[in-house]
Amino acid sequence: MCGIMGYVGPREAAPVLLDGLRRLEYRGYDSAGIAVANGAISVRKAEGKIDRLGALLEAAPLAGTAGIGHTRWATHGEPNDVNAHPHSDPSGEFVVVHNGIIENFSRLRDELGAEGHDFASDTDSEILAHLVSRHYDGDLVAAVRLAVARAEGAYALVVMTSHEPGRIVAVRRISPLVVGLGDGETFLASDIPAVLHHTRDFLVVEDGELVVVTADGAVIETIEGEAVERDVLRVEWDAERAEKGGYDHFMLKEIYEQPAVVTETVAGRLDAEGSVWLEDVRFDDAFAAELDRIWVAACGTAYHAGLVGREIFQRILRIPTSVEYAHEMRYGDPIITGSSLTVAISQSGETADTLAAARLAAGRGSRLLALTNVVGSTLSREAADVLYTRAGPEVSVASTKAYLAMLVGQYLLALRIGRARHAVDAELAKRIGHGLHVLPGQVESVLGNEAQVAAAAESLVDADDIYFIGRGLDYAVAMEGSLKLKEISYLHSEAMPAGELKHGTLALVTRGTPVVVVITQGAVYDKTLSAVQEVKARGGRVIAVAYEDDDEILRHADTVLGIPRADDLLGPVCAVVPLQLLAYHVAKLRGHDIDQPRNLAKSVTVE
Ligand code: F6R
Repeated sequence: MCGIMGYVGPREAAPVLLDGLRRLEYRGYDSAGIAVANGAISVRKAEGKIDRLGALLEAAPLAGTAGIGHTRWATHGEPNDVNAHPHSDPSGEFVVVHNGIIENFSRLRDELGAEGHDFASDTDSEILAHLVSRHYDGDLVAAVRLAVARAEGAYALVVMTSHEPGRIVAVRRISPLVVGLGDGETFLASDIPAVLHHTRDFLVVEDGELVVVTADGAVIETIEGEAVERDVLRVEWDAERAEKGGYDHFMLKEIYEQPAVVTETVAGRLDAEGSVWLEDVRFDDAFAAELDRIWVAACGTAYHAGLVGREIFQRILRIPTSVEYAHEMRYGDPIITGSSLTVAISQSGETADTLAAARLAAGRGSRLLALTNVVGSTLSREAADVLYTRAGPEVSVASTKAYLAMLVGQYLLALRIGRARHAVDAELAKRIGHGLHVLPGQVESVLGNEAQVAAAAESLVDADDIYFIGRGLDYAVAMEGSLKLKEISYLHSEAMPAGELKHGTLALVTRGTPVVVVITQGAVYDKTLSAVQEVKARGGRVIAVAYEDDDEILRHADTVLGIPRADDLLGPVCAVVPLQLLAYHVAKLRGHDIDQPRNLAKSVTVE
């Protein structure tokens, strides 16, 4: 996700900005740029690594003591020099850097276009520079307020104008923004690690706030203009912990990023009526209407996301869907006929087996759609359609936020196909759309129960074997919960459909055997409960993930990890979160290297 920097003080701004951007590299980016004010404003920006920007600055240095900088992770418009930030208005007197998505970008662009504005780039961000300059009447704060009043979406926006030297104005709506308070100098950044070597004193800009930054400090108010009192946050973390956002591990940080990841993945793609616009999904309605089969190819956690996909495609669209391990599919001679869509799911977009299965399917006439997190990855380049998950870079080997984003991506895809073939009526679209819009808050509330999950983890630390069960969508989630646990705790665990237990594995359940049950699906609730009773009858210990208003399960399970009630179709999204936390805490109690589990690699690019 994009990184933001700003500086006002006595030093030359360019090296400070460049250094800050390097420290934000871990967020991932495809281009970088800075703007420095020295009377007029000058911009240098370049596609690719920050070293390219560094070389530009060496060849053509920028003098000046106030500036803004940016690393871009492409959303609107391909990664290239022109689409890199900062963006200017046509006069060059106003520059912006922006992290996030302007959802009503097309409408605003048309409106400004009709007024005669020409745009240099394909980005949504450039619109903001035009809007600020259009509203400027001698007061940058007022102009920014008027500009953001027109913009819908999630963003952090930083603006500078040559008319008001030594002053930067920024606003935050969802995307993160902090102010670093130095001695006679002030910094702005997306994240604390970018400036932690300059200062340990920070002001965190909250959602819906505007900040005016000068060398003397910063003044925060709400976007509407009410004064805000903000205590200075003294950060005592070391550099390593700072990179993890203050969390002990990247995995935990990424688990906590999930509400924002859902928001980002949905932003600009889904309206309140459940209508969907997926920018790089190019097939037309006729193709969606004729589709008679969906193939899903993936490995590991992405395969588990595909299991959820199969359920939703079949339940919502009534299209036969096969989900295949990519390494099996590539050698399995799949019978691909008719009008089919192959959804290749891969966080990295580089997994060798997934690429091979995707190529095989495309070679046999299936239309290939990449569901991936990495812009410009091999899979995204080879596919006819791409649905980016916008989870941001995932550092922990055990995938969490990328998985959740894959689920969200598949709901969006189901809505897109479903509306086109009239399999999803207005009421269902609205229901799913609403479910996705409230999801970030629900995931947030599950995260609020971390202490309860940590307590449950204590009972699993010394287990020999752990079983995960569920039915339908719950089974798909159970598979992922089991994989998470084994990857980082090194405990043996196994997931199966709840109905399968009695066909063999029940022989292994004895006094104290832990069984984790995911039980959210109303249609099969009683059936899953029967499996719970089979476990209890053998003395097994049941940890249930269930809706928090489910009183029945309290009478059967030893421990209940509650999640907010949701539409059953969306239940799995929240249900996976306690399982991620459970795996994390068991691994932590066992003292393992959580972010880099033994024998595993983040991206498996060999067969
Ligand atoms: C598990 C995990 C792996 C990956 C798998 C596919 O936490 O991350 O199972 O899901 O190796 O990777 P991608 O999604 O990059 O194709």
